[in-house]
Amino acid sequence: MNLLVTGGCGFIGSNYIHYIFNTFSDITVINIDKLTYAGNLLNLQAIEKKYGGTRYFFEHADIANADAVNSIFEKYDIDAVVNFAAESHVDRSINDPSPFITTNVMGTQVLLTAARNAKIERFVHVSTDEVYGDLSLDDPAFTEETPLHPSSPYSASKASADMLAYAFYRTYGYNVSITRCSNNYGPYQFPEKLIPLIFTLASADKPLPVYGTGMNIRDWIHVSDHCKGVHLTLMKGKAGKAYNFGGNAERTNLEVIRTILHDLDKSEDLITFVQDRPGHDRRYAMNYSLAQKELGYEPEYSFERGIKETLNWYKKNTDWLKDVQSGAYLEFMKKWYGNN
Ligand code: NAD
Ligand code: DAU
Repeated sequence: MNLLVTGGCGFIGSNYIHYIFNTFSDITVINIDKLTYAGNLLNLQAIEKKYGGTRYFFEHADIANADAVNSIFEKYDIDAVVNFAAESHVDRSINDPSPFITTNVMGTQVLLTAARNAKIERFVHVSTDEVYGDLSLDDPAFTEETPLHPSSPYSASKASADMLAYAFYRTYGYNVSITRCSNNYGPYQFPEKLIPLIFTLASADKPLPVYGTGMNIRDWIHVSDHCKGVHLTLMKGKAGKAYNFGGNAERTNLEVIRTILHDLDKSEDLITFVQDRPGHDRRYAMNYSLAQKELGYEPEYSFERGIKETLNWYKKNTDWLKDVQSGAYLEFMKKWYGNN
């Protein structure tokens, strides 16, 4: 199979490409990435070295650029698309929604249109639990039937993309499925997100910014479980359907932060309560029984095992973190791909 992956240089996309090469010997990957601040070629250096030009091909392109996307569909004989590319950080969307609309909404539309025109047989669109809005403490977990009720410009843009995917199924009969997953953690996550941010700050004995009361709840899933869920959806998911994925690990932000502090043997005095995120979602929780039943999905990681392995990865890969913090990864990429 020739698989087109978008956003493959980001956190989850790069973990997915590693998963593909670690698991299958008969899949070729074409990775389209715009290389925004969140795209890092270093995440895939080992893959590029081993498989570049044979089973791995990188295309520096914007999914919202129809000409670029069409020419990539012409260049390769693609069987399926998995669309990870997105602007992904809620706080950035609050500061400036516009790139979120361009990439997450228009980019998805361009990609769906190009894939359909090129008669690509299968399309998986990677979405998020945030499209459902939030839950109070005693609400049941989100199911795929929960109405979409997004809170932030980020989640509104992702919900719009989901609607486009549904429309392509309903209007054109296009073979597209959607995945909706809870909060991921694991290797190669950009340190603007809670877990790598707290690891980085606590390691340097810097204050840890906790929004509001720190009592907001997320359901944490190890990225490798999400990657398996995406691949099961690609292989077994039904057209026009969405599948939820979760990690069975609802934790308050303070619980997560204390776990990291404990592991690093750092003082809880670093915890600093700051102004809350506007529109901050209270709680997410996922009912993924449909994925269990139809796809055979089961998360393998407990939060305790996953967070331990993840913190060990960041401790071992201080060079990766330093390159990201200093911007050296951007210099590395400029050498190969210019300033665009
Ligand atoms: P990320 O920000 O780490 O990576 C995004 C990648 O997309 C980067 O490599 C970036 O360069 C690329 N990109 C951005 N705009 C692009 C464009 N216009 N054209 C081509 N490439 C572009 O994001 P992530 O955390 O890896 O998330 C990946 C996907 O999974 C997103 O769609 C996100 O909404 C979804 N998701 C994330 C989580 C999570 O917890 N991080 C949970 C559920 C779903
Ligand atoms: O639920 C899936 C979503 O998870 C994905 O769709 C998003 O792409 C991903 O970024 C993530 O969104 P969150 O907003 O939940 O993740 P973030 O790491 O930004 O924040 C997690 C929680 O921690 C949230 O309640 C806000 C809080 N937080 C975050 C930061 C960055 C803080 O208290 N302080 C911080 O500095």
